[in-house]
Amino acid sequence: MSFCVAIDGPAAAGKGTVSRAVAEIFGFGYLDTGLLYRATGAKTFEGLSPIEAAQSLTAEDLQRDDLRSGDAGQAASRVAAIAEVRDALVDFQRAFARRNGGAVLDGRDIGTVICPDAEVKLYITASDEVRAKRRFDELIEAGEKTTLDKVLDDLRERDTRDAARATAPLKPAEDAIIIDTSDMTIDAAVAQVVELIKART
Ligand code: C5P
Repeated sequence: MSFCVAIDGPAAAGKGTVSRAVAEIFGFGYLDTGLLYRATGAKTFEGLSPIEAAQSLTAEDLQRDDLRSGDAGQAASRVAAIAEVRDALVDFQRAFARRNGGAVLDGRDIGTVICPDAEVKLYITASDEVRAKRRFDELIEAGEKTTLDKVLDDLRERDTRDAARATAPLKPAEDAIIIDTSDMTIDAAVAQVVELIKART
């Protein structure tokens, strides 16, 4: 049986951490859809066009070491605005969403485009400053040299582009439950999501 948990929201709001924890608790598969766009963006560094990059994406491309960098995030958000790139990635995501045994997908358009009939739809957000601090800590931990101001500017630029694009813009689905994690620990957010899922299973 399939059961889809769709988790959308802006960059560094805690979606990934919540999704991984929830998938583990319920034994669901987890797909970080941002990785598909990051890997597509990273392939353009080698001279492929964004559309060619998306159409030729392999599981190996998703294992690259540089996908978490700020540059890969910016490249992801640029290629993600191209309708043909998004089209090339839809079937894989929809099949994952309806896999047997349940699935958690996080991204920007899961509840609106990829899985509009998801059993649980969430929109996880947090203030710009809280998100920038979380992403800054992650990047420093990963060895990248950056500043909090640069990370904040980067996030805002990416969110503005993601929300303004014509195809599958970042926005909560009409029936999504909005969770603001600004003043919440990730553990508290996970606990809240677990209760929501239990109520629908
Ligand atoms: O979630 P993450 O920060 O890894 O996503 C990188 C970029 O990929 C986002 O800024 C967004 O432009 C794009 N993306 C998207 N749709 C998704 C997931 C990510 O457009 N479902």
